[in-house]
Amino acid sequence: MNKYMSSLPQELLIGVPSVDTGHLELVTLLDKLANDPSVHLESARFSEIISQLLNLMVEHFADEEVFLKTCGMPRNDVAAHIQAHHKIIEQYAQLNYGRMGGKDHVLSEISEVVKGWIVGHLLEYDTKIRPYVTG
Ligand SMILES: [Fe+2]
Ligand SMILES: [Fe+2]
Repeated sequence: MNKYMSSLPQELLIGVPSVDTGHLELVTLLDKLANDPSVHLESARFSEIISQLLNLMVEHFADEEVFLKTCGMPRNDVAAHIQAHHKIIEQYAQLNYGRMGGKDHVLSEISEVVKGWIVGHLLEYDTKIRPYVTG
């Protein structure tokens, strides 16, 4: 994988352009968080990326959920998927809260954890969208 991704690897592509673009933006920003030497826990850049990441997630989940609700996927699967999005936002808020509260997190830990949620979710849930993509 490149230091900063310029395209998604094949196994992560869903086939819905706006969804794939959202995933690429998220993964690119996560890579920046993990690999940009100017990003430190106390830096303004770090806070900027953390809030940018939250905005991107909220935006992307909303966009993906529009597709989910209209693609013909069984309602239970759609509900479970949306629930998983909520869970990620919740975990992310807790992580940020822990950080603000002075819990001892290191940058690489934080970026790995968040990347794990996002890429893990992508592999577990988002790839199940593929059969519902037409055209
Ligand atoms: Fe998703
Ligand atoms: Fe997604």
